[in-house]
Amino acid sequence: MLIFAHRGASGTAPENTLRAIRAALDAKIDGIEIDIYQVDGKLFVIHDRWLQRTTSGKGQIFHHSYQYLRSLDAGNGETIPTLDEVLTLIAGKCTINIELKGVSDIALLFSYLDDAINLSNLTVKDILLSSFNHHLLANIHQQRPEFAIGALTACHPLEYAKFAQQLNSYSIHLDVDFISQRFVEDAHKRGLKVFVYTVDELEDISAMKALGVDGIFSNFPAQAKEYLAGLSKQ
Ligand code: G3P
Ligand code: MG
Repeated sequence: MLIFAHRGASGTAPENTLRAIRAALDAKIDGIEIDIYQVDGKLFVIHDRWLQRTTSGKGQIFHHSYQYLRSLDAGNGETIPTLDEVLTLIAGKCTINIELKGVSDIALLFSYLDDAINLSNLTVKDILLSSFNHHLLANIHQQRPEFAIGALTACHPLEYAKFAQQLNSYSIHLDVDFISQRFVEDAHKRGLKVFVYTVDELEDISAMKALGVDGIFSNFPAQAKEYLAGLSKQ
């Protein structure tokens, strides 16, 4: 079972910052998940549309400039990173799962990815693009089918993983609160990997392993890795 650091190692460092990414890399896990927004013609790594929970700023992210966003404290003196900074830091070290939150221009995203692929050790196979916005995922697949996509859902649909197969997804990303053996089996029958968020409790990690899921997103990736290693020895 793979471990993805959720928003970097966000349980021990400010989420979606370079510090959280470095902590995740130190834990030598399989992948790192981040969230991105497009603002002022740039892609920023941040989870919320509103600034006040994770930064020293206020208001809705879309109403601000690049300069303002870069002046904010994102926790422990960290700056809100741009996507290129994170791609450069992770390149070649593990999978990067980029969750698209407020992204309207896919061409801009492709330009960041292409630049990083050309300028660093990043390869197409290291990248997994996910979103709750399935229209965006369909557009990505249509324009650049070489990029793996992950279909996010926070529900337990009547037709299980059918929507993810229809999107030509590589993976389906399920909420730990809405998962079942049948859902996992249905996804696997359709050839999809099953990744589950957000799994921090040790009991939940055991349960996900028992369900046969392919990976989990954890805010405490080092702890999850250690616990999973112990389970495998039993
Ligand atoms: O990508 C998995 C998970 O991050 C989705 O929910 O709200 O934590 O971005 P959220
Ligand atoms: Mg996310």
